[in-house]
Amino acid sequence: MILLDGKVASAAVKETIKKETTALLENNKRAPHLAAILVGNNGASETYVASKVKNCEEVGFISSLIRFDSNIDEKILLEKIIELNNDASVDGILVQLPLPKHISEAKVIETISPNKDVDGFHPINAGKLVQGLPSFIPATPYGIMLMLEHFNIQTKGTHAVVIGRSNIVGRPMSILLSSNILYGNCTVTICHSHTPNLNEICLQGDILVAALGKPEFVKEDMVKQGAVIIDVGITRVADATAKKGFRIKGDVAFSEVSPKASAITPVPGGVGLMTIAGLLKNTLQAYKNSYEL
Ligand code: GUN
Repeated sequence: MILLDGKVASAAVKETIKKETTALLENNKRAPHLAAILVGNNGASETYVASKVKNCEEVGFISSLIRFDSNIDEKILLEKIIELNNDASVDGILVQLPLPKHISEAKVIETISPNKDVDGFHPINAGKLVQGLPSFIPATPYGIMLMLEHFNIQTKGTHAVVIGRSNIVGRPMSILLSSNILYGNCTVTICHSHTPNLNEICLQGDILVAALGKPEFVKEDMVKQGAVIIDVGITRVADATAKKGFRIKGDVAFSEVSPKASAITPVPGGVGLMTIAGLLKNTLQAYKNSYEL
């Protein structure tokens, strides 16, 4: 069994990004700049955004963290996004989701310039991805593709089963795996909350991507012998014995599934780290696009 270690794969991606950034600075160019917007103080979002900012620093990027209270007017948030769209020193903009209920996520996403949409959530980028055109790929599916590439996991001609159909992970993941690209060319089945016979379908997956957000949902009896298991879940589960009062759980019951798998991502330390690698790659790409490099 190969452990698909996100620390190893993300370190390799970040190393190449850092080299490119260093070369830019040596040529008297400015560094790529990511602006992250955080609304409210959701604990998980705080952690994710802090990690994104820290990773920017590690590869030599500039980052700006813009914070708003959870009761901020939608209009103020949209105006800030427009300001960042018009700021030539900013290459990538991300608004951490979820947002408070009174703010329309769709409006926020559509206000971000598609050229700075390093999360790849704008309908223009989503549409381009569907058509196989160059676009910003949502960071988590992009990170998973980078993971498959790093460990040279053969995908062509295999059956990939994706559990979850979110715009952030499941849907774009299914498009990438079915695309005619390296580490694509799978036959893909997407499963969701209305899928009958979910267990039988999962059992057919040479590759199984669990992205439904239910801790330890995928059990040993749902997994084909020798399957590649990609666990996208990162749910905080209350645990009084843990220092922080919670533990991070994936969507896969790792201890019972891993003996059956040919390769599996751990949680934490798997896909989460690759999401950041994907985001950094997108930010560098946004920078290059703006200078036509
Ligand atoms: N919330 C959960 N995942 C993501 C992500 O990849 N980007 C943003 N902006 N918010 C998220």
